[in-house]
Amino acid sequence: MHRIAPSLLSADFARLGEEVRNVVAAGADWIHFDVMDNHYVPNLTIGPLVCEAIRPHTSAPIDVHLMVKPVDRIVPDFAKAGANIITFHPEASEHVDRTLQLIRDCGCQAGLVFNPATPLHYLDHVLDSIDIVLLMSVNPGFGGQKFIPGTLPKLRAAREKLDAYEAASGRRILLQIDGGVKVDNIAQIAAAGADTFVAGSAVFGAGRDADPHRYDSVIAALRAELAKVGA
Ligand code: DX5
Ligand code: ZN
Repeated sequence: MHRIAPSLLSADFARLGEEVRNVVAAGADWIHFDVMDNHYVPNLTIGPLVCEAIRPHTSAPIDVHLMVKPVDRIVPDFAKAGANIITFHPEASEHVDRTLQLIRDCGCQAGLVFNPATPLHYLDHVLDSIDIVLLMSVNPGFGGQKFIPGTLPKLRAAREKLDAYEAASGRRILLQIDGGVKVDNIAQIAAAGADTFVAGSAVFGAGRDADPHRYDSVIAALRAELAKVGA
């Protein structure tokens, strides 16, 4: 099973509710919600108020990607605002295990995000507390960057770790990729082991000319590529 999670970062911010409805109607599985603080990353985006505002527009899971430091203060606010999944960068938290527990205590699924240069060993002692692993295939902060090819072997390494964990525990942890995912590389990324795909500019850049914006054909094209790889 593959999930497609369009990133709102490339959506039309003047009509966000409509964008959310249209992209879900076009077949998106999750809404990826990028939170940047101009401190952990050099850009500033949206917070819990915007999450709360889009919540009534869809029943699709809202996948909050926190690129903020510190992390813990803001977690309960996103849970209250209707987030379903909350991921954060381990470098941004002083106590990674505590932050994972906090997210779960708030009723959300929890995940760690790995920058291109961040080693996977952060996973080693916390897999029991993790629902999703997100590998960044660009340096976080901006949409529309190019996929970093070194992410493919890293994905394969993460896939191996998570498969071994599943074999031992019976619990499946999702493996998500974020950055530079396009119709022409998604199959290769899936073959390397990702099961959940963030796509910002690829989705919201397409279908922009129609009014209302339409995303059916790009999401269908992404799925057709995924179908070539199989489940
Ligand atoms: C980057 C964000 C991504 C971004 C992806 O820091 O985390 O979610 O929106 O955008 P594209 O798909 O355009 O690379
Ligand atoms: Zn993201």
